[in-house]
Amino acid sequence: MQVSGISVETVALLLGSVAVLRVVQGYLDYRRVLASIKYLPGHRTVVSSATVFGNLFPPIPILSLGHDHFWRLKHSSFAQRGLDVVSAVSWWPSAAAVLWIADASIVKEIMWSRGRFPKPLHQYKILTFFGENIVVSEADEWKRYRKIVAPAFSDKNNRLVWEATTKIMLDLFDDVWAGKNEITIEHGVDLTLPIALFVIGAAGFGRDISWKEDDIIPPGASKYLLEMIHARKAADKAEERHDLFSSLLAANEDEGLSKDERKLSDSELIGNIFIFLVAGHETTAHSLCFALAMLALYPEEQENLYQHIKSVLPDGRIPTYDDMPLLTHSLAVFNESLRMFAPVTNVPKSSAEDATFTTTDVNGEKQTITVPQGMILSLDVVGLHYNPKYWEDPETFKPSRFLGDWNKDAFLPFSGGYRGCVGRKFSETEGTAVLTYFVSRFKIEIKEEPQFAHETFEQRKERVLGARSAITLAPTRTPLVFKRRV
Ligand code: HEM
Ligand SMILES: *[C@@H]1O[C@H](CO)[C@@H](O)[C@H](O)[C@H]1NC(C)=O
Repeated sequence: MQVSGISVETVALLLGSVAVLRVVQGYLDYRRVLASIKYLPGHRTVVSSATVFGNLFPPIPILSLGHDHFWRLKHSSFAQRGLDVVSAVSWWPSAAAVLWIADASIVKEIMWSRGRFPKPLHQYKILTFFGENIVVSEADEWKRYRKIVAPAFSDKNNRLVWEATTKIMLDLFDDVWAGKNEITIEHGVDLTLPIALFVIGAAGFGRDISWKEDDIIPPGASKYLLEMIHARKAADKAEERHDLFSSLLAANEDEGLSKDERKLSDSELIGNIFIFLVAGHETTAHSLCFALAMLALYPEEQENLYQHIKSVLPDGRIPTYDDMPLLTHSLAVFNESLRMFAPVTNVPKSSAEDATFTTTDVNGEKQTITVPQGMILSLDVVGLHYNPKYWEDPETFKPSRFLGDWNKDAFLPFSGGYRGCVGRKFSETEGTAVLTYFVSRFKIEIKEEPQFAHETFEQRKERVLGARSAITLAPTRTPLVFKRRV
């Protein structure tokens, strides 16, 4: 058969050859990538889970790892290969490798070498939706943002966090829950999301929003923030305020700034304020939900915490920010929840130049890891937090591990080094206060449901601790009961 002089067979042959060439090319690229990392063992899949498209696939052997592989696999990828650095190599959309790292000293080296291991900003682009900001920036731009943003997270601001949290919790107990001795919450986040939002509203934006108001943040948040900026710029400056937003505005108007520390534009102000909400709201709320679930599942740990709080506050008075250093058990529970349920499961970096790392394998032998320029490195927070080299019985909820000696380099819920979370103390303050108030006034239990009457403890744990990792790790359904202590 002829089609304008070319036979269908010829066309088929041509197309076939192109396809074969593509496959051969793909295979050669794949081998080249493997060679570039000296065949470091690890996962081999068709699609890359480091791309948006690859993330759409569920975990299917050979095809894809699934979007929440960091959470699901925990330390197993490393344990299987006897090495705390593994590779994930894929064919599609192009041959590429990512190195996953659960070795505390390598992670530390990367976090403290900002120039050699910058953030792969393209992975964060979605976070610039409301304007350029500190999270999605590098080098001089990041320095300028950090210089203005970091001082806002002052001790005075932390004090405000404590006071705001106190008010929100007491309003909840004495007003919203007034007259009720037993309160059922179908999903813990129904409680912790509003709490965290009210705290950031007050200590972040200087807006006292609480349980009674429903217009928390209207749609069109960025227009709203812009109006807030203008209103605040015009407002009386005499009043000293310590919310993040006011401090940012004041710092931005500081005449002492030199030319290269030039002020943030309105759009940059909005971007940086908005990112506080993105970075700080769900992360803190989800961690608190997991912490409450753990206390409900482990009543003896809850009782330990209750007794400790009573020993710090024997007269039952309302604790102040100055009591926080004494409330170590509350922070230990928060830390242990962050270890087991790190809201940010991995921190991506890239290698600006060829590099090598050394690690020690399971047999105690030194191994060299080769990193070519341009490679993506994943600081595997979950892998690190479940690494038995650093944590005894990593699967066990044991807040007391934080009260003795523990490895600070193996605990990375807030990342670390230069790009570590600037809101860490904000979140710890809120976490300590929320847990202290709940446990001192209530007994927390898992809601009993007839359909689960016959489950074992392990089954129950698996059910109420179910989580999926979307942007941050989120509990799927944690039904709780709060019983007022009398
Ligand atoms: C449990 C709660 C929190 C967790 C687990 C958490 C975790 C993290 C992590 C892992 C990073 C590094 C991200 C990266 O490298 O891409 C980070 C950075 C950051 N966090 Fe948090 N965060 C929490 C709470 C907060 C809060 C409450 C705020 C603000 C109110 C905040 C503001 C920021 C900012 C501005 C950065 C960027 C710092 C920089 O690049 O210099 N975070 N956080
Ligand atoms: C909790 O973890 C932080 C690091 O994120 C650490 O500085 C603090 O000492 C820990 N405290 C307790 C009581 O666990």
